[in-house]
Amino acid sequence: MVDRLTGKFLTLEGSEGAGKSSNLDIVVTTLRDCGVDVATTREPGGTETAESIRELLLAVRDEPLDDLAELLLMFAARAQHLTTKIRPMLRAGTWVVCDRFTDATYAYQGGGRGIDAASIALLEQLVHGDLQPDLTLYLDVPVEVAFQRIGDRDLDRIEREERAFFERVRANYLERAGREERIEIIDASASLEAVAAAVEQTIRRFVAAHP
Ligand code: TMP
Repeated sequence: MVDRLTGKFLTLEGSEGAGKSSNLDIVVTTLRDCGVDVATTREPGGTETAESIRELLLAVRDEPLDDLAELLLMFAARAQHLTTKIRPMLRAGTWVVCDRFTDATYAYQGGGRGIDAASIALLEQLVHGDLQPDLTLYLDVPVEVAFQRIGDRDLDRIEREERAFFERVRANYLERAGREERIEIIDASASLEAVAAAVEQTIRRFVAAHP
């Protein structure tokens, strides 16, 4: 049976320190201003069970987390999130804005950890082969700037990775953005106002194209 998803699915991507949270607010405010019924969520997480998986993924423990276990947990959380939250909302006509989605898996587990893209594509096909974001905003910032912005706050397990890891993550995002038309790159090293203006403009253009 064809799943009729009438809402639009928007995702926001970017490294730590790219300003995802404040720009998520801009996305939502702009959509509401355009009269769109919108809900926000995040990955990994978004439901009670998926948030528990998130805790497993981000906890700092003595036992290192196996790369493949990390990948599978990301997709386990995603399957749960899609079934219990994202798909029902899209079916009801609500637009969903998700803080990170599968592009992050290609960037972090693919680019960062070195898992081959074909294995990720296999899981992607299994979990949401029929559903892709309609629009993705990638907030791009050089790793050095991101590190300065994060400062020395309490870092989670993934944020503790070394600089080369985040260089690979960024390179992967940029490479995918170059290939996928749905991914818009936003220069997040600009001033807060300039970034917010670029985000707002992109969202207004998308809404105008999808009345
Ligand atoms: P957040 O910092 O945006 O809340 O995301 C939590 C961390 O999870 C962040 O370091 C990126 C990472 N992540 C992955 O490694 N793979 C994924 O598929 C997703 C969604 C997030």
